[in-house]
Amino acid sequence: MIGIFDSGLGGLTILKSLLRELPSYDYIYLGDIARVPYGSRSFDTIYSYTLEAVDFLFKKGCKLIILACNTASAAALRKIQQEYLPVKYPDLRVLGVLIPAAEEAAKMTKNGKIGVIGTEATVKSETLKYELIKQNSNLKVYQSACPLLVPIIEAGEMRWIGLDLILKKYLKPLKEKNVDTLVLGCTHYSVIKKEIAKVMGSKVKIVSEDDIIGFKLKNYLSRHPEMEKKLSKKRKRYYFTTSYSQNFTKVAKIFLKMEADFNIVKL
Ligand code: DGL
Repeated sequence: MIGIFDSGLGGLTILKSLLRELPSYDYIYLGDIARVPYGSRSFDTIYSYTLEAVDFLFKKGCKLIILACNTASAAALRKIQQEYLPVKYPDLRVLGVLIPAAEEAAKMTKNGKIGVIGTEATVKSETLKYELIKQNSNLKVYQSACPLLVPIIEAGEMRWIGLDLILKKYLKPLKEKNVDTLVLGCTHYSVIKKEIAKVMGSKVKIVSEDDIIGFKLKNYLSRHPEMEKKLSKKRKRYYFTTSYSQNFTKVAKIFLKMEADFNIVKL
């Protein structure tokens, strides 16, 4: 079983990418809707919430977990990999979404100027910036935090007229720096990538994690047969959230492009 975790529903875009590339595996999705958004919370809080989610998914039988959340990947992944797993689950793995995005962006840029957008916590952590510069130390990375986007997207207001104004405000400083590549450092943003691309202009390439995580995981599993062997393949899909929300079935369908039957769970 492969576990997919996000603070809300945005991680469903990553699950969709995995179902496309690796359909035969079993998946459990967990969205912490009761506590979304994580992006404006402290690193300690994000770490403890993420740890609860990881524990839940391992107890459900996952052997591999993808943190389909840049905020959790930025604030918690390294500590989980280095301190928590070796002690509690030495044979199990937790992977994030930042390094695959950084690898793709570093390959795509021509002028070496890369923009990053994400939640306040992701931007403040500078983890994506660090991962990009690790790919190529000559890169110039410019970041912009976009705190209003996750609540708008979780509310299903992707076609709201005000979104364009908000995007123009958040993206202006990156356009002024002449970036030729923009990393969508939040899984929610992939559902508005067309709107973002329109504001950035046709010369800017957009790196959206829902386009890359599927083939990156496929590649990871081919390099790690010991993990691949542990994963069950009965095409089962389970969906959990930590709270009921008025419109989540509607929003989930937009993200996943199919119906999903959610169970409510307490972490
Ligand atoms: N999808 C999460 C991310 O990729 C949203 C973060 C939040 O809950 O603020 O960062």
